[in-house]
Amino acid sequence: MLSRNEYSQLKTVIVGDATGAKIPKHDISLRCVNYADNGTPPEQGLYPQQIIDEANEDIDKFIQFLIKENVNVLRPDVEHDPVYYKFCPRDTVFVHDNNVLYTPMSLRARADEHTAYRKLFDRYESVQQETVNITREDSLYNTACVGNPNVLALNETEPCFDAANILKDNDDLYYLVSNSGNLRGAEMLQHFVGDTAKVHTIEDVYSYMHLDSTIAFLREGLLLANPSRIKDRTQLPEKLQNWDIVWAPEPVDIGHYPGFNNSSPWLSVNLLSINERLVVVEEHQHNLRIELEKHNIDCAMLPMRQARTLGGCFHCITVDVERENV
Ligand code: ALA
Repeated sequence: MLSRNEYSQLKTVIVGDATGAKIPKHDISLRCVNYADNGTPPEQGLYPQQIIDEANEDIDKFIQFLIKENVNVLRPDVEHDPVYYKFCPRDTVFVHDNNVLYTPMSLRARADEHTAYRKLFDRYESVQQETVNITREDSLYNTACVGNPNVLALNETEPCFDAANILKDNDDLYYLVSNSGNLRGAEMLQHFVGDTAKVHTIEDVYSYMHLDSTIAFLREGLLLANPSRIKDRTQLPEKLQNWDIVWAPEPVDIGHYPGFNNSSPWLSVNLLSINERLVVVEEHQHNLRIELEKHNIDCAMLPMRQARTLGGCFHCITVDVERENV
């Protein structure tokens, strides 16, 4: 059985690769999903080599750490030349129980990204892999979202969501409704997982991309929350309202490459749990480390210099494939 939660002992993980990362063709999906905050996309083409090299150097250090922790590391297909990138497998690959879903991505340029990862699951005989194909007609996108976080990028013409809109806690899956996931996507996810889990939606919390810079599950009953988005526990689904909450301290802004910005400083929350007592955190987030240590959670402080530039820290750039299941 594959991973069912975010925090049991990690056994096997996919780690992304910055090689070939690109700004894709400008279209309505890129505008509405990645740049709804009114920023403009950089010119189409490869990311500057410095970004790619530094990201890959930091990934190598991270992999050395994982190997030392006895975690088996899988990598995206080296032959795969991405239309967008293969830096954030988390966005595309949803793993739970015996199921792998390549989700109907919100960006057109990411429709085929799953081909970088599919072969990695061939070794798991009983695993069911499913790919969702959608049309991504212009009518899926609502351009009124640009500059207005109260309007979401995705209409409900078809199910559409990135896998990173989901966090998993065994029999419960939490799904953020935002610019990278619509309500029909949550329904589709429920249908896909059937009676192996219940999907709970999180709404009106964060309009932009993905759930994993807003919440991190640390162990059953303990979560890390981003107080700039979750102001009050009543904004959480009922099942999470009685969990203990570590309120993330103000992040240290590690900045981004000039002209290339894919995320907020709150990528500090985007940590990867090795187990209930050890997480991997971006190396400048000392106040976060102090908070987590109060809960007996050690932090491996590692660099990820281009996290904001490329839009992913340690949670985004991984997929936990196998954890010791509870
Ligand atoms: N979209 C997430 C953030 O900017 C990664 O915080």
